[in-house]
Amino acid sequence: MARSEWYKDMVFYQIWPRSFCDGNGDGIGDLWGVYQKLDYIKSLGVTGIWFSSLTPSPNADFGYDVSDYTSIDPALGDMDIFDKVLRGAHDRGLRVIMDLVINHTSSEHEWFRQALADADSPYHDYYFFRKGRKGRDGKPMPPNNWDSLTGGSAWEYVEALDEYYLHLFDKRQPDLNMDNPAVRQEVEGIMRFWLDRGVDGFREDVISFISKPKGLPDDHFALPGSRGLRLYNFGPHLMQYLVQFRRDVLDGYDCMVVGETPMLPARKALRLVRRQQAGDRALDLVFGFDHMSADCMYTEYLPKPFSLRKLKRAYADWEETFDGKAWPTLYLENHDHPRVVSRYGSEDLRVESATALAASYLFQQGTPFVYQGQELGMTNAHIKSADELRDPQAIAHYDALIKAGKTPEEAMTVVSRATRDNARTPMQWSARQNASFSPELGDVEPWMPVNPNHDVVNVEDEEKNLMSPLNFYRHAIRLRRLLPVVRNGRYHEFKRASTKVYVYARESQWSRLLVMCSFSKDPVTFGVPDSYGNLTGGVLALSNYYVQDAGTDDANQLTLRPYETRVYVFGRDAILVE
Ligand code: GLC
Ligand code: CA
Repeated sequence: MARSEWYKDMVFYQIWPRSFCDGNGDGIGDLWGVYQKLDYIKSLGVTGIWFSSLTPSPNADFGYDVSDYTSIDPALGDMDIFDKVLRGAHDRGLRVIMDLVINHTSSEHEWFRQALADADSPYHDYYFFRKGRKGRDGKPMPPNNWDSLTGGSAWEYVEALDEYYLHLFDKRQPDLNMDNPAVRQEVEGIMRFWLDRGVDGFREDVISFISKPKGLPDDHFALPGSRGLRLYNFGPHLMQYLVQFRRDVLDGYDCMVVGETPMLPARKALRLVRRQQAGDRALDLVFGFDHMSADCMYTEYLPKPFSLRKLKRAYADWEETFDGKAWPTLYLENHDHPRVVSRYGSEDLRVESATALAASYLFQQGTPFVYQGQELGMTNAHIKSADELRDPQAIAHYDALIKAGKTPEEAMTVVSRATRDNARTPMQWSARQNASFSPELGDVEPWMPVNPNHDVVNVEDEEKNLMSPLNFYRHAIRLRRLLPVVRNGRYHEFKRASTKVYVYARESQWSRLLVMCSFSKDPVTFGVPDSYGNLTGGVLALSNYYVQDAGTDDANQLTLRPYETRVYVFGRDAILVE
């Protein structure tokens, strides 16, 4: 079957199910809750849902340690409610994609249990078990020097087998050996299972890590903390395995796949989504990471002041590298990063900066993703004490900092800002008890504390306010879907050197769209690009302030107020918004 490219016209909403809506009142978000909110999701104007992992998990990494690939975590629902949600979504014209976590399993997955129990079991070769080495002093050492991305060695010793196993993440997330054809068969079976049930595709977790280099050699050229990464990120057989999945399974369905590709530069990621000689591509879409480190060095645990120029360089690099060759994804938040208002915007000017950030990415070329709560301008949680942390990565970082001699306050300053918990506080539905995340009767406590600012940041109040982030997102998404130039126009950036404004255009033969976003807390004056004259030739289609005069002054200078954003449409598409 020729797969159509419907993913190019999608706008996705990402749900991290534990914190979206608690339908059965046990304090944990679930599919019963999602079912109640399908109309809300539809009202945003999005056309699809990406569910973060829904499969059973001992929660060493909240769903990203899978103990059974073909059922639903009982805390999140069951197959009946899953099917109901799927049907309910489809009835509303929403596609549904699932997370697929196949770089590793949970250490409690049946395969791993069998692998541990018996070195002769076929499941032993589903994973990377290796003998240790002897150091110079005769001390036992792991098979190579790779680091776990969550800290420490990437190898865990198993005494009963006198072997180590590889885990690029937590030791409760052993890596699957994708070189074993039987493992690839299993993956294909899992894909078919969900596709046959009616899902529309997958988001593939850390997919660029699945092919490890032959012999698992030491890495002598990386900084401690990421040794191994450059060897297994885009490993030798990655393309081959992805193309196999495509030909064996995906091509038989009208589906899409988006792969998570951490720390790959645009040029390299392009190889995964560009058409190959045989006409097929390894993946439809990839999630790049460059624009997620405009205020840090690779990870939020190494913070730096926010740099608008760094953000703009990353945006432009991906738009320009993919231009005409492949289709980008657009996102600012997900379950792995703190809230973007708190990072790249301003909590003091929350509404203004949340909406400017929205305009900064929603009109680029690509398929946008909006993460739950992002549309409200939700902010970081400002967690004060270590015992309020839920994110296992954050707890590991905290422990490491304490071990390195930091005081609890010092450690929390870093961790509180960086933890993924910031994105995982319960969705804020109202100003009432528990933000109405859990049913309001009774006194159930959500599994993690609600952000106290739900008294002002919540769906119910934002519905009523025309200038709220919620209504801005709706408007922007509608506009994006309405205007052909947003789908097809070429990306063009102006004022690249500015540290205060981000100005970009989308230009096609008949229409042009000009997006201007201030990232400044003070008013900022600049000359609009020459080709756009005094702006009166266009239609002001979207703004986050009341605009009295949509034109410029005599010298074609424009002053934007703090975090003001404006979107103008010129040419044929302007008729659509008048
Ligand atoms: C991805 C997931 C993240 C998880 C990691 C390991 O980055 O998004 O939540 O911790 O993979 O599975
Ligand atoms: Ca629940």
